[in-house]
Amino acid sequence: MDILDFSSLLTFNTVTVAIVVVLLILLVSQLLQWPANLPPGPTGYPVVGCIPLLRNRNILEVFRKFRAQYGDVFSLKIGPNLTVVINGTDALKEAFVKRGDEFSDRPGGFLSKNIFKNRGIGGTSGEHWKHTRTFSLSTLRNLGFGRRSLESRVQEEIAAYLDVIEKQNGKPYDMKEMTVLAISNIICSITFGNRFEYTDAKFKRLTSLIAENFRLNSVGSAVRSFPWVIYLPGDFFNVKKLVQNFTDIKDFVAEQIDEHRNTIGEDCQRDFIDAFLIQQKKHGEGDPIYDDMNVTASVMNLFIAGTDTTATSIRWAILYLILNKPIQDKLRKEIVRVVGTSRLPSLADKPEMPYFEAFITEVLRMGDIAPLSVPHGAKKDIRFRGMVIPKGSTLIPNLDSVMTDPELFENPDKFQPERFLGKDGKLNGKERDVLAFSLGRRVCLGESLARMELFLFMTSLVQRFEFLPESTDKLLSFDATLGVTRASKDYSCRAVKLV
Ligand code: HEM
Repeated sequence: MDILDFSSLLTFNTVTVAIVVVLLILLVSQLLQWPANLPPGPTGYPVVGCIPLLRNRNILEVFRKFRAQYGDVFSLKIGPNLTVVINGTDALKEAFVKRGDEFSDRPGGFLSKNIFKNRGIGGTSGEHWKHTRTFSLSTLRNLGFGRRSLESRVQEEIAAYLDVIEKQNGKPYDMKEMTVLAISNIICSITFGNRFEYTDAKFKRLTSLIAENFRLNSVGSAVRSFPWVIYLPGDFFNVKKLVQNFTDIKDFVAEQIDEHRNTIGEDCQRDFIDAFLIQQKKHGEGDPIYDDMNVTASVMNLFIAGTDTTATSIRWAILYLILNKPIQDKLRKEIVRVVGTSRLPSLADKPEMPYFEAFITEVLRMGDIAPLSVPHGAKKDIRFRGMVIPKGSTLIPNLDSVMTDPELFENPDKFQPERFLGKDGKLNGKERDVLAFSLGRRVCLGESLARMELFLFMTSLVQRFEFLPESTDKLLSFDATLGVTRASKDYSCRAVKLV
């Protein structure tokens, strides 16, 4: 070995030792910071924590194994974030309902700070969140949320949607984009006061940005754990893309708000933006509940949350129809008996259609649309079931642990709407166990709208079309992609017109 080789070997060894020492220091200092009675969980690796155990694997499956090993409340490091995962109906109710004052904050983070400027409904905490949520909910109720007065708007959209599907003449067609556009148009008409044509290129692009961000912003993604990678050259971790997508959505919402400001009448409130602007005029720009950024962030929250979630549920519903022909026939029988074929179904028909309700509930359960909900955060040390959840921890309400619980739902892997019906054919109360919209104070703000959309869209679709697979030799799969939502893989189907 010559002198050069020897010195480079020495340098290599020194660097290796230095790295190992730094990692050990990090690990030990991390362990020292944690209280002794932290919820149990896997150790993970220095710096990255358990990310290697989650990446490219089925996170839901990994969390099921951790629950079996460590119990209903377990903790793990995801990057630098101590994360506590809460599983099962009992622990979820105890934390998010009974002790809602301690468990209802959001963890904040890079996107809340840099994109939403700590404003809006979805990412804020404390008094600001409470006031914004209360104001938004009461405004949305006035605009018809959960009421019959919104129904005609939804039905108008459904008529346009059915038209496009009919034009495919029963040929194989991927309904994904159409469904997203139709569902998004409903929240657009509530917030912006207008809908967009399905051919509108800008609208199509915006909804695809929302879908992309739902995919990129998942548990274990770089933006949640190491947002500083945005300052590295290139965009290997897609953080720049995610930020650019949000910025484009924000610019679009800001344009809409400007347009409203220029056209608003004296006492006439056209939509959600107008309601905010009227209050802004009363309270002054200095009030953080009604300032420009809170309007922008709240509208973004509604536009984003109201677009992808219901559309994803409808895509699961159609897939389950195609793969369960007897269930599809039974649903159609119920529609024909209650509604007939000459008019569109309406909310007034709902109490007479328990099988449809059971079907939609089963889609929400097995579709497992937002399986890990949206993260909450611990604003102070929380003592819970004899353990300590340290201040600053991220809390994950694991809704998947409920949907797949064999104690609650016999044969949970089977698609079986009947599980929600009693001997009398009416709903048996078990539908309340399906926590698709989460629970407690942060329960989905759009639940009543989503339920209305699911009922009206699905009943209208089944009334008008028979759904068949693209071809008999092409197998459809129940595989899913997990982001914020759990989305089915792309698929085409044939919608054959019946009436
Ligand atoms: C099937 C459709 C939907 C599902 C499964 C769903 C599910 C959820 C879930 C799991 C959360 C998190 C709750 C938590 O933090 O524990 C949430 C929050 C939220 N959802 Fe939905 N959602 C749906 C549709 C909608 C619609 C249509 C809107 C639009 C109005 C909406 C607006 C929101 C908002 C604004 C929040 C944040 C609430 C807050 O932080 O206080 N969602 N949703």
